[in-house]
Amino acid sequence: MKVFVAGATGVIGRRLVAYLLGAGHDVVALVRTPSKGPVLEKMGARVVVGDALKAKELTEIICTAEPEAIVHQLTAIPPVTNIKKLDEQFSLTNRLRTEAADTMLAAARRTGARRFLVQSFCGWPFARQGGPVKTEDDPLDGDPPANFRKTLAAIQHLEDAVCGTKDLTALALRYGFFYGPGTSIATDGSIVTMVRRRQFPLVGHAGGVWSFIHIDDAARATAAAIERGAAGLYNIVDDEPALVALWLPYLAEVLGAPPPRRLPVWLASWVIGQEGVTMMTEIRGGSNAKAKRELAWEPAFASWRRGFREGLG
Ligand SMILES: NC(=O)c1ccc[n+]([C@@H]2O[C@H](COP(=O)([O-])OP(=O)(O)OC[C@H]3O[C@@H](n4cnc5c(N)ncnc54)[C@H](OP(=O)(O)O)[C@@H]3O)[C@@H](O)[C@H]2O)c1
Repeated sequence: MKVFVAGATGVIGRRLVAYLLGAGHDVVALVRTPSKGPVLEKMGARVVVGDALKAKELTEIICTAEPEAIVHQLTAIPPVTNIKKLDEQFSLTNRLRTEAADTMLAAARRTGARRFLVQSFCGWPFARQGGPVKTEDDPLDGDPPANFRKTLAAIQHLEDAVCGTKDLTALALRYGFFYGPGTSIATDGSIVTMVRRRQFPLVGHAGGVWSFIHIDDAARATAAAIERGAAGLYNIVDDEPALVALWLPYLAEVLGAPPPRRLPVWLASWVIGQEGVTMMTEIRGGSNAKAKRELAWEPAFASWRRGFREGLG
């Protein structure tokens, strides 16, 4: 199959390109900066250069490539995220999830692509009510913290576009928090650095539930979804959604770092805002039952417990 990958130079994109080429697919890889092309060409991909936020340019590129499948792995997330200013920091990512996704879907229709796949997120977007672990049928947050609203609206736009598409097979993969080489939870990652410096505190009862996924497992799931996934939403997470109270001290221990500090909610609200408190105390995790069943995929790191010990790179 000829697969167009936007975001091919990214943390998941470059692994995905390798899996697709290894499986015998033709890959057309979009890069923004020409100097990033040769690595992908050496791997065996055909490189095209363009900016995904220039609609006319992107449409022409896609229509010239005539792919059978189109994959959106575009994000523009700053290396260190200030959770209090999430919407501001995700403003480009939000445009990529709305404007660029709309352009790509329209181009997919124009060029007769059969499959369309986008990157979404599994975890904080879920409604913070009911049980700790959510499926693809559970609702998203109807009342997110103030500085999450635009980002959640962009995710909702993207997923609505996927779910409303009937004339081609469209999928949204909701990845859990990435860890592993190139991510923020890697040996040299920004979250790991904060944990080592005791700058990533436990807040209150630390009852937020985080779902993780190793970056290689996410890429393998994506390749499987491109090949055989039916239309719809998929949580791409490991088998063990985890309380912050469990995973954060464990990560510190694995790193040989001192245990995380503890902050009461009132103090944390001041330091990391309501948004940060929500992440540490209220968010929900995701179930991977549907992805395992329908994509015939299993994460190699079934739990972050082994993944944090062996998979940080
Ligand atoms: N589920 C998760 O936990 C999750 C999801 C995504 C990202 N992250 C984290 O975010 C950090 C890096 O973020 P990132 O957003 O830079 O992700 P990334 O996956 O490293 O890169 C995103 C991709 O989008 C491309 N891109 C962005 N804007 C573009 C545009 N206007 N036109 C064409 N291509 C464009 C980038 O191209 P260039 O190479 O030219 O920039 C790159 O290929 C990492 O720590 C990663 O782990 C986490």
